[in-house]
Amino acid sequence: MATDRTADGNIAGQESGTATLPPATGEAFRDAIARLPSGVNIVATDGPAGKAGFTATAVASVSDDPPTVLVCLNRKSPQNKLLQENAQFSISLLPKDAVTLANIFAGRTGLHLEDRFRYGDWTTLSTGSPILAEAVMALDCRLHSFQDVGSHVVYFGMVVATLTKPRDPEGTKEILIYHDRHYGEA
Ligand SMILES: Cc1cc2nc3c(=O)[nH]c(=O)nc-3n(C[C@H](O)[C@H](O)[C@H](O)COP(=O)(O)O)c2cc1C
Repeated sequence: MATDRTADGNIAGQESGTATLPPATGEAFRDAIARLPSGVNIVATDGPAGKAGFTATAVASVSDDPPTVLVCLNRKSPQNKLLQENAQFSISLLPKDAVTLANIFAGRTGLHLEDRFRYGDWTTLSTGSPILAEAVMALDCRLHSFQDVGSHVVYFGMVVATLTKPRDPEGTKEILIYHDRHYGEA
């Protein structure tokens, strides 16, 4: 029997066990996934195709042997070409005071590609992809593979170098997160 009680926002979908379950609507999915708190990262690349970076929450650990991560980028982004041609990228987890930088790399100030790096203090680890100097942690990756999945391209990266800032001994909040469509701290 179908279950669809979206009015109170609690349940949307259909009972499993049939071979023809349709996908949830994009709107219901976006409302649900908005409740998942995520760290805010800048994914960046540099190389023969040029320098570029974007703000991303779609970042996840895949494997620890070998160390592998994934990043999802909208198929419409011109940065797909650069990521694929450079075949390397970095992930910088933003500190809590980096909201302006997150907005710049989310395209909210009209800056594109290399121009976004006029802001922030950038360094490199191993591949030459830009790493934010104040990152809470950073991963430098060689592109392993990529795959189109719906609206996005999923990039798998083999981690070749890492940076990890020591934890604040007081346990103070230090990381920028995104939750319920707002920035927060963790
Ligand atoms: C908090 C936050 C998280 C985001 N996460 C992603 C993400 O994981 N993947 C993605 O493709 N876009 C994400 N975006 C949107 C991109 O940052 C934005 O579209 C950016 O401008 C892409 O770069 P481009 O303009 O060069 O294509 C996010 C935006 C914000 C504000």
